Amino acid sequence: MILQQSTWSDVETYLTRSKGVIIPIGSTEQHGPNGPIGTDAICPEVVAMGVEAADDVLVAPTLAYGMAQHHLAFPGTVSLKPATLLLMLKDVISSLLRHGFERIYFLNGHGGNIATITAAFSDVYAELGSEAPRLKLQNWFLGPRVRKLSKELYGDSEGSHATPSEISLAWHAWPQAVKDVEISPKIAPRGVIRDAEDYRRQFHDGRIGSDPSLSTVEHGARIYEASVKDVREDYSAFLRGV
Ligand code: NI
Repeated sequence: MILQQSTWSDVETYLTRSKGVIIPIGSTEQHGPNGPIGTDAICPEVVAMGVEAADDVLVAPTLAYGMAQHHLAFPGTVSLKPATLLLMLKDVISSLLRHGFERIYFLNGHGGNIATITAAFSDVYAELGSEAPRLKLQNWFLGPRVRKLSKELYGDSEGSHATPSEISLAWHAWPQAVKDVEISPKIAPRGVIRDAEDYRRQFHDGRIGSDPSLSTVEHGARIYEASVKDVREDYSAFLRGV
């Protein structure tokens, strides 16, 4: 069931059979020379929709803006400050809690969101105590099947930003975004992230440690299948967990 396509009474009925909801969360940020700016939102969304197609789950709208301040020297990046993201997450959680959702599962596509999502969970638990819903953060790219497959496909060329895995998956979701461009050097530099200007100086085309010229739509289809399986398993364990 897709929240945006449902009526309030559909949701009321759904709540009699499940108290769980999946919320994809991503970012709107540069993804190197061939990756769409929406990559981090597109990936968890397509995976969540794959889970929805297989199981009786509810998927809420994707939170497509995240904490991407370090990418702001690249045009098209739109970032929330950590404090803004934290407040938004708490508002989303408290709205859902009010209607009886007790298990809220954030399917994340962006490493830069992890610290803030975790901080929001800490705040909710501290403020609501035993009234708090169960909260879980899962990253679509860290499931066991996805990790195994991306290692097999890309090895050390996976890197950590604008990775061939995430770009393949985004292309699988939106093949019209496929871009064939010259990428040099083949493997991007690695290093520590500081402010946005420094990021652009160090990582001039936006990539970190990756070779996204290896991305293909066919790989994306395999990564999609692997991630949907990982998330179906993980979400159902979350629903069953105490
Ligand atoms: Ni990304």
